[in-house]
Amino acid sequence: MPTDDAQAIDALGWEKRTFPPSAAFKRDALVVDTHLYDDAAEDYHGFWARQSADLLAWSKDWSTICEWELPFAKWFVGGQLNVSYNCLDRHVIAGRGAKVAFHFEGEPGDTRTVTYAQLLDETQRFANVLKGLGVTKGDRVNIYLPMIPEAAIAMLACARIGAAHSVVFGGFSAQSLSDRINDAEAKVLVTADGGWRRGEVFPLKPTADEALISTSTVTGVVVVRRGGNEVAMVEGRDHWYHELMDTAAAECPAEPMDSEQLLFLLYTSGTTGKPKGIMHTSGGYLTHVAFTHKYVFDLHADTDVYWCTADVGWVTGHSYIVYGPLANGATQVMYEGVPNHPGNDRIWEIVEKYGVTIFYTAPTAIRTYMKWGPQEPAKHDLSSLRVLGSVGEPINPEAWMWYQEHIGGGTCPIVDTWWQTETGGIMISPLPGATTTKPGSATFPLPGIGAELVDENGARVDAGGGYLTLTQPWPGMLRGIWGDQERYRETYWSRFPGRYFAGDGAKLDDDGYLWLLGRVDDVMNVSGHRISTTEVESALVSHPSVAEAAVVGATDPTTGQAIIAYVTLRGGLEVDAKVLRDHVAHEIGAIAKPKAIYFTPELPKTRSGKIMRRLLRDVAEGRNLGDTSTLADATVVGELQRRAAEEPSPD
Ligand code: PRX
Repeated sequence: MPTDDAQAIDALGWEKRTFPPSAAFKRDALVVDTHLYDDAAEDYHGFWARQSADLLAWSKDWSTICEWELPFAKWFVGGQLNVSYNCLDRHVIAGRGAKVAFHFEGEPGDTRTVTYAQLLDETQRFANVLKGLGVTKGDRVNIYLPMIPEAAIAMLACARIGAAHSVVFGGFSAQSLSDRINDAEAKVLVTADGGWRRGEVFPLKPTADEALISTSTVTGVVVVRRGGNEVAMVEGRDHWYHELMDTAAAECPAEPMDSEQLLFLLYTSGTTGKPKGIMHTSGGYLTHVAFTHKYVFDLHADTDVYWCTADVGWVTGHSYIVYGPLANGATQVMYEGVPNHPGNDRIWEIVEKYGVTIFYTAPTAIRTYMKWGPQEPAKHDLSSLRVLGSVGEPINPEAWMWYQEHIGGGTCPIVDTWWQTETGGIMISPLPGATTTKPGSATFPLPGIGAELVDENGARVDAGGGYLTLTQPWPGMLRGIWGDQERYRETYWSRFPGRYFAGDGAKLDDDGYLWLLGRVDDVMNVSGHRISTTEVESALVSHPSVAEAAVVGATDPTTGQAIIAYVTLRGGLEVDAKVLRDHVAHEIGAIAKPKAIYFTPELPKTRSGKIMRRLLRDVAEGRNLGDTSTLADATVVGELQRRAAEEPSPD
């Protein structure tokens, strides 16, 4: 283990508090004992097959539960189902059409109540709109929208007709959007004029227009009116959503799809500059997200009001706003904007207003709420809450305790859920009525999931630190990287033969609890968003004044990690740090803006020319440096340390 991970392990070793589920919670909980674990341990294929049959409606039975040719899995082979039918039609057919699917809350305060019947109606119409634009089964559709119900409608409409969607987070730049459109060779782009953020409209269509200049596959653009901002419409290519919907046919029967039909691509950062199009398919994925959404959150669909604060542009939004909750017929809250508009209590105001019972958010958000102070949640009645969730990065025990006390009223169980874009659904988490939790631990692999730690030689570790690996296929697992299955094999399956390597370090304590410690590769985790150091470096060196750049993720008390860049300029050139930070935002998106940029005449390198990132991380975090004898030029580091100590960060 690298030294800093070892230090983190020691720090976590002190956390001894335990929280068993209360008798009151257990009384109505779906799972209070080990029966699901026992069932899965006996035969995990059979376990997942029973869950799938129980949770989903299949049009045709499968013949094989799981075909596993490492590293390629197929689940429920031969089976057929329609994902949108499972998320919509069957609830309406069962008489639950009037049930609320989304309580939508716009940032300016406008609201919309969308029932399952309305969601089905709009999805069918939009599926017909897509067909009218020439989209057929197997095509790709890009979605670049704010957090509005149309995002879910567009995704479900794709699923209905067997087209794969590729949702791009609205905060990404034109360049990032066009890269993703080009890689997926998308035929249609669904966007909006703009959305609301911090009291203002942020434009999306103008960014989409810029992206479309460097794409050649998109023949139709659908624009939802949301921001009311002025946009240019290209004749013949661009269409208003509301106009197409007005004339679209009302019915679009859900056609059964093969279990392994591609459901979506979702691009995520890896250790190289090029984002990977993670592939997810239908039957296994829906089984996994429906199962985990139901049991991890102890969902009682008839009474719960569930709210996941993620954006649909990330995997959490795909699995735990759209597919899992809708497959389970849940009622949810969808909120468009930022948590501090108009006041720092907006989130808690919404919880009170809709009587939210299950709340799922990220540690970075919790730490921000901590900073704003307990008086903000205290302004509202949060007594409806009964389960709290956390996702996206390790949650520090202090934030866990604050969440439990100030949001959960000291009684709500907290489920710290570990998973990834690649895993499709939650993998490691407590079950709230069955698991005794410890603040900061994601506890145990869920039933049907195999996870183990290994050392650098691949030998199993039963206590202490190691690399997190997954030992058996699971239904929601990625089916590969779009257009590059060699990279898939290489990235996930080559480091430890026979095992999926997640890229995370973890520790097993003496009671067998798992403590996630963060990435061990060149992937940073900033506010729960994955960004690769190489991506930011490529963006920096694409600026004409930059000769070389090294980027590291340094520990940050609020965002988990912060992006710190070390830049060497081309001879004689000078540039302001702000110009470079804005350049990165323009190339990738605001989420990738370095927090600080240090200019240096040289980067510390080994004698073989490799940039010493570990050392740069130590410098950024103000740690004493260990052995620097492998450095080509040891004076570089002293100079960097001096600057880091002197220069305040630009933020
Ligand atoms: O490092 C882990 C961290 O987020 C990474 C996955 O990022 P992404 O694919 O963007 O998906 C985020 C939402 C699922 C992981 O490799 N991570 C996610 N959840 C946790 C976590 N780290 C610690 N604890 C978690 N609960």
